[in-house]
Amino acid sequence: MKAVGFKKYLPIKDDDSFLDLDVEKPVATGRDILVSVQSISVNPVDIKVRTSKDSIEDPARIIGFDASGTVESVGEDVTLFKAGDEVFYAGDLTRSGSNAQFQLVDEQIVGRKPKTLSFAQAAALPLTALTAYESFFDRLNIDISGANKGESILIIGAGGGVGSIGIQLAKTAGLKVIATASRKESADWVTSLGADHVVNHHENMVEQVHALGLNTVDHIAIFSDKVHWDACVALIRPQGGIVAIGDQNSDFPMAGLKVKSASLHWEFMFARAMHKTPDMIKQHESLNYVADRVDDGTLKTTLSETISPINASNLKKAHGLIEQGNAIGKVVLDGWS
Ligand SMILES: NC(=O)c1ccc[n+]([C@@H]2O[C@H](COP(=O)([O-])OP(=O)(O)OC[C@H]3O[C@@H](n4cnc5c(N)ncnc54)[C@H](OP(=O)(O)O)[C@@H]3O)[C@@H](O)[C@H]2O)c1
Repeated sequence: MKAVGFKKYLPIKDDDSFLDLDVEKPVATGRDILVSVQSISVNPVDIKVRTSKDSIEDPARIIGFDASGTVESVGEDVTLFKAGDEVFYAGDLTRSGSNAQFQLVDEQIVGRKPKTLSFAQAAALPLTALTAYESFFDRLNIDISGANKGESILIIGAGGGVGSIGIQLAKTAGLKVIATASRKESADWVTSLGADHVVNHHENMVEQVHALGLNTVDHIAIFSDKVHWDACVALIRPQGGIVAIGDQNSDFPMAGLKVKSASLHWEFMFARAMHKTPDMIKQHESLNYVADRVDDGTLKTTLSETISPINASNLKKAHGLIEQGNAIGKVVLDGWS
């Protein structure tokens, strides 16, 4: 089968940063399904695992997380899917990835693909949707059916992949969304997705939120590597919750939260699969929830750019775009030549 991978961890502009490969097609056993991958999307995690270092991979390493495609065959213990089903998923950081024509994935972290979306539109969603879903509903304990209706959430980095679906999920739960975006294009994008207010993360966020008539907000989602910690501590309401997902500046001075009895939650989308938690199947359920909300018109795809076909040259292009750190929505690669 065709795949795209690498042997050396090189800057993306290097000719050998990604290689077109011909590798053996895997076989599904146990709870694994074998998926014929149609579309993939690129996330910052793809860039982070490829960061330059001296190690050599032999055989070549295949990464890639978001994917949509069709089930080709299933392992003997599979109960949720059968050959021919259309699926979407974000995969497992510890296994071979979606940058391949066929991929093995545990059925418990796979959802049914939304019927109303193309494969490319669907591949934009899983990793970011799971991250935002788990941040709000599993970590901050916001009620998905609307019990927190009218409460406010500040979403930092709202124009990116996670923020774009995060805005929509927060609106579905009835929250008032204050989204951060620093450019006209990203501000227009977050408004089009339902944000009630936009503030600029490169200017004083505390003053901007106060100017909206809000002294504090009920929840904060830091969907960025740039944490803006002092602003978060100033803006979170007493007994409110903050969720963080990024890797940089993670050494938060926690003392500022004490006088507010406020909480910080970490979200790591890969944690359930990585640690095989007993509730791993929750990702199957969460992705099916997203598919249902897409199909009933509540949520829309966050796809903003499609590149075709999936090969080393186009994957370099997509990684180059995400590396810039100012993506709006999601970049997807579609089809094999
Ligand atoms: N823990 C997890 O499970 C998990 C899951 C997914 C992602 N992540 C991490 O979360 C981060 C966001 O992911 P993503 O996929 O949304 O990334 P992305 O699509 O690359 O995010 C791009 C967005 O970041 C915004 N941004 C740039 N500089 C910023 C700043 N100083 N402060 C706030 N926002 C800023 C940009 O807004 P403007 O252009 O308007 O400035 C742009 O819209 C990444 O670090 C990623 O690795 C973690």
